[in-house]
Amino acid sequence: MAKNWTPTSWKSRPAQQQAEYDDPVELESTLQRLHRLPPIVTSWEIEKLKRQLAEVSRGERFLLQGGDCSERFSDCQAHLIDAKLKVLLQMSAVLSYGGGKRVVRVGRIAGQYAKPRSSSMETIDGVSLPSYRGDLVNRREFTPQARRPDPANLIEAYARSSMTLNFIRSLLAGGFGDIHHPEVWNLAFVKESERAPEYEQLIEGMKAASRFLDATVGREVSELSTVDFFTSHEGLHLPYEHAVSELPPLRDGWYDMGTHFPWIGDRTRQIDGAHIEFFRGIRNPIGVKVGPSMDPAELVDLVRVLDEHNEPGRITLIVRMGAERIAARLPPLIEAVRRAGLNVIWCSDPMHGNTYSTADGTKTRHFDAILSELQQAFAIHTELGGFLGGVHFEMTGQDVTEIVGGARGLTEADLARAYDSDVDPRLNHEQALEMAFLISRHLRASPSAQV
Ligand code: PEP
Ligand code: CO
Repeated sequence: MAKNWTPTSWKSRPAQQQAEYDDPVELESTLQRLHRLPPIVTSWEIEKLKRQLAEVSRGERFLLQGGDCSERFSDCQAHLIDAKLKVLLQMSAVLSYGGGKRVVRVGRIAGQYAKPRSSSMETIDGVSLPSYRGDLVNRREFTPQARRPDPANLIEAYARSSMTLNFIRSLLAGGFGDIHHPEVWNLAFVKESERAPEYEQLIEGMKAASRFLDATVGREVSELSTVDFFTSHEGLHLPYEHAVSELPPLRDGWYDMGTHFPWIGDRTRQIDGAHIEFFRGIRNPIGVKVGPSMDPAELVDLVRVLDEHNEPGRITLIVRMGAERIAARLPPLIEAVRRAGLNVIWCSDPMHGNTYSTADGTKTRHFDAILSELQQAFAIHTELGGFLGGVHFEMTGQDVTEIVGGARGLTEADLARAYDSDVDPRLNHEQALEMAFLISRHLRASPSAQV
């Protein structure tokens, strides 16, 4: 057990970004009901993920984390889950073929229902209401009823997380077969790209590799392989995370049983804050977002607090600087962590530092800025004698138009056609797969590939 930690010690620390409920009795009784429900994940799955992440920290695997910025209750539908899983598995096939190493697959899924907001109130035409904080808390519509933080949403979120993961588990148990066969993927976008020859070469290579494997083992490879898939979400809403955490039988520590891999957001990572206090005592692997305001000494302190035993696989630093800032900000962080002898995974989130608004106020990101931040991350780690351990994307399996650029050259004028995100813009399935094509080369060139 972490020193001086109790499951409720976070309550005496300041907590940023929390919902304000108007009926504490209703909240408390809901949290108690939540606590009695069966877990969504198990402690042995969590430990398995930690072992795989320990391999990432040694350069033996690569971490792929991706999914919606914010899941909605209405996203709990078979075809949406199916499409999201499919694109993640296709990306992972590309990365493992291109990079020559196994991939740890983690979705931002089955619980990514809470969002930090820049202001706790929203005012429209002189009317002020609580901001939308994600379906875990309230609803997007601008009415007093919809914006009231309603504890019933906590149970609904837990149920939908569980239904989502149940469906994912069934799909994977059933083989989700053709994932290793690019011939059945929808790759129409490749022809639209200036880089078509490069992509086609990679696809041909993958086809040859899957034919070779099928012939060698005498059966479809997909029939033989089981695919591990893990869930993650931002551990933002502390009463919820606390209620779904427990000390499992035969374990010597507390686990967050609502997800395999909670991460702490850039706005809630204060070293004396409630989020760090809660998660330092939880045994799951923990992600920490690292934005431009992070100071090297602060990062070292933060990792030491969260990971008293310097346990391999425990801490993933998810760096989100922006393409313009990463070259100046990342190297001092890497050097400070290395000097302190800390064992962490470096992951790149090339999404959150590259968001901008168009003239009409639509939030978007440019494909090239995302790619540039990633390429710089690979290069910086290589130059400093280390390696990038993983990538973190906001993406969807749908054909949305939220991010400009990519093979089809989406422009700002295209955004209105199929813009569906309530919060941050996501790569659509083609852009996500294209990103995997583009980074698989860097992965092969990265020094950890020689491990
Ligand atoms: C997010 O991942 O959706 C998010 C809010 O990120 P950050 O904490 O890095 O701003
Ligand atoms: Co986001």
